[in-house]
Amino acid sequence: KKVVLAYSGGLDTSIILKWLQTEYQCEVVTFTADLGQGEELEPARAKAEMMGAKSIYIEDVREEFVRDFVFPMFRANALYEGLYLLGTSIARPLISKRLVEIAAKEGADAIAHGATGKGNDQVRFELAAYALNPDIKVIAPWRDWDLTSRTKLLEFAEQHQIPVAKDKRGEAPFSVDANLLHTSSEGKVLENPADEAPEYVYQRTVAPEDAPNAPEMVEIGFEKGDAVSINGESMSPATILTKLNELGGKHGVGRLDLVENRFVGMKSRGIYETPGGTVLLEAHRGIEQITLDSGAGHLKDSIMPRYAELIYNGFWFSPEREMLQALIDKSQEHVTGTVRVKLYKGSATTVARWSDHSLYSEAHVTFEDDAGAYDQTDAKGFIQLNALRLKLLAARDRRLKG
Ligand code: ARG
Ligand code: SIN
Repeated sequence: KKVVLAYSGGLDTSIILKWLQTEYQCEVVTFTADLGQGEELEPARAKAEMMGAKSIYIEDVREEFVRDFVFPMFRANALYEGLYLLGTSIARPLISKRLVEIAAKEGADAIAHGATGKGNDQVRFELAAYALNPDIKVIAPWRDWDLTSRTKLLEFAEQHQIPVAKDKRGEAPFSVDANLLHTSSEGKVLENPADEAPEYVYQRTVAPEDAPNAPEMVEIGFEKGDAVSINGESMSPATILTKLNELGGKHGVGRLDLVENRFVGMKSRGIYETPGGTVLLEAHRGIEQITLDSGAGHLKDSIMPRYAELIYNGFWFSPEREMLQALIDKSQEHVTGTVRVKLYKGSATTVARWSDHSLYSEAHVTFEDDAGAYDQTDAKGFIQLNALRLKLLAARDRRLKG
């Protein structure tokens, strides 16, 4: 038996690696993705080697992550429950895709992940995997093993000579998931939503009150809905997001404290930092303001919550997500141009936008003499016909009241 494990190199997935070998009696292949979590990955290789992994895959998937997952999602301005930019949700399908591909290559019939049985991530990993290979088997040790407490986990680690970092012997103060798009922190000290999150939870943004006193401008160029340049310089998708993370983080942009509804039915409280993504969302909305037709814009906005929910719930690889994506992508044909965003003490604000594809007509909208561009008397009939049913309703109400 052979299984491909999504391996971070951390304590939990190291225990899972050993558990799969000893309790499940299978050969383990590890897959570690560089999604821009900002961690050295070579230690993961050394650890996997030491624990006898059959083969070790360590891959830099940052460009693919931003180009094929993050950017398509940002074309939709996707937000879950009005606020969450889906930083964890959008990374899971990519990890599953690679797990399934590696399983095929290695002749493994199963994949394994370290998500718990209480969360969204198990659902996302597994729905994506089954969508790509209906015969794949999934092992989720957290749902199966009897290591039900921190003490038992540490005992297991001790027994099997798995190195435990000093600060992990006590309770880790919270659970973190990070990638190029965001850092999410949940659990432990954050579990009571009535308690404010301590400042030390934040890892990639300064507190807005400690951000520089001088604002900073950044100009983002877009082509067909995707960011392609910063301050006039063309850059790859992952480079753009990296750069925006630096700028946003420095100015305290993109912090979020949220109680959200998990797909499995419970509420959970999380702290999110999405500095670059928050700047990008603002800029994308800025360029859409002048380049999107109102009918097209309102239609795509109306399907956005549905699209965001599909991604949150793990249905990235589904016909309905792809159908909505086709609609969203079609809307972006003319979303090309440049936006200037002002970063200042936690805020990212569009202050200017321009485009060769602009639909904005100063000739029509001007408060000054428009030289006949627009005939104001046209508005009279427009309003009268729109008012007709409202007048009939009001007349009936008046009649019935007597
Ligand atoms: N609640 C977020 C989501 O479902 C993040 C989940 C993973 N985060 C974590 N800190 N373990 O997308
Ligand atoms: C987990 O349970 O593994 C993390 C939280 C989540 O998936 O929602």
